[in-house]
Amino acid sequence: MAHHFQTLPQQYHASKLGMWLFLATEVLLFAGLFCLYAVYRRNHPELFTYGHRYLDTGWGAINTVVLLLSSLTMAMAVWAAQNNQRRDLVLFLALTLLGGVDFLGIKLIEYSHKFHDNLVWGEAFYRDPEGAAGGAPAATGPPSTAPPALEVKAGDLAKGRDLFRNTCAACHGLRGEGIPGQGKDMRGSEFIGKLDDAGLLAFMQRGRMPNEKSNTTGRMMPPRGGNSLLTDGDLLDIIAYVREIQQQAPGATGVGAPSGPNTSSRIQGASSAQALAAETEIFIDKSIIAPTAIGPPGLRPGWNQAVKERAHSDPPPNPRHDPQRPPNLHVFFGLYFCMTGLHGLHVVAGLAVIAWLLIRSLRGHFSSAYFTPVDLGGLYWHLVDLIWIFLFPLLYLIH
Ligand code: HEC
Repeated sequence: MAHHFQTLPQQYHASKLGMWLFLATEVLLFAGLFCLYAVYRRNHPELFTYGHRYLDTGWGAINTVVLLLSSLTMAMAVWAAQNNQRRDLVLFLALTLLGGVDFLGIKLIEYSHKFHDNLVWGEAFYRDPEGAAGGAPAATGPPSTAPPALEVKAGDLAKGRDLFRNTCAACHGLRGEGIPGQGKDMRGSEFIGKLDDAGLLAFMQRGRMPNEKSNTTGRMMPPRGGNSLLTDGDLLDIIAYVREIQQQAPGATGVGAPSGPNTSSRIQGASSAQALAAETEIFIDKSIIAPTAIGPPGLRPGWNQAVKERAHSDPPPNPRHDPQRPPNLHVFFGLYFCMTGLHGLHVVAGLAVIAWLLIRSLRGHFSSAYFTPVDLGGLYWHLVDLIWIFLFPLLYLIH
């Protein structure tokens, strides 16, 4: 008995209360993550429908069983301590330890597969593991195997201008001059000059991530300018407008613009561009507040259906090469690693506690008169178990 307690029962109850308080803070800690999960799941259900296929339900289920069994053996250990069954106590603690180690081993298998495939949080998700391994340069454009589905025909300049002002201007400025810290000056852009319409369309469908080699500003050019409601036809209209403004080199006033390879075929367009440029008043009929980095793909008609159909293709395609991959898929893996990672750390802590209990019980420290540490260690282990019971269905069993 510690010196600041009067009786053993008093010490026992005080310790137990302290443990419950601690567990309450643990619940709060995880509750934050579960709230985050709820909000993301509500706002981006497609990330979860798509992403869960990359988690192995089999391993997850085995781990659930392993943890449940280890909770049982932990409860048996507490019983053994209360009843002076010292050999049983050692046995059950050892079994619990084994269960926890099993759990971590399986987690390791799962994690290493994810790391191997770059199914991780953040930008690294978009890095191509094959490209990195083979030393091949990261693809700067979309995979060349995927030709634009739409027949590429020249877009409508006036329509393109309006769309540009509503979507692209937020970052690129009304006339493509670029807004510092947002988008790039596209006037006189060599990159645009050397691409044909199909190439430019493919670029806009995909955007350019900050970690790509071709990126020049360290900022993201979001797919479809962040507006996933823009159809390929809309993008072609925008391209028609982009063609015109990009020919105005910085500082030039439109006259004598440098002639890119596309100029000759666009004489008609150029004259209408001058007409557009001559307009002194600019009406912006919709807000040009910068859209969210990547628009809500859930709103794109037919999109969810496409995801659902692909959800049952087996094996799932590598998300990096899948044109149907929902934008921001890395968020799913971010949540996955955050939640299972924090839980995994708790398992490690629990194992340390159990190992300590095991050593003490080998030395015969526990009996029916004193088993508080075993009891409290058991409570902790049950909490760790309980959290996994929530994580498993929330991450693995989504339909
Ligand atoms: C959220 C801000 C943002 C929006 C909205 C946006 N862009 Fe961009 N865009 C960028 C950034 C940043 C870059 C530069 C990427 C880099 O560093 O290479 C860029 C680059 C580009 C480039 C390549 C230019 C070059 O010379 O490399 C083109 C073309 C382009 N954007 C077109 C568009 C079009 C068309 C739209 C509207 C549909 C649009 N962007 C909307 C931020 C944006």
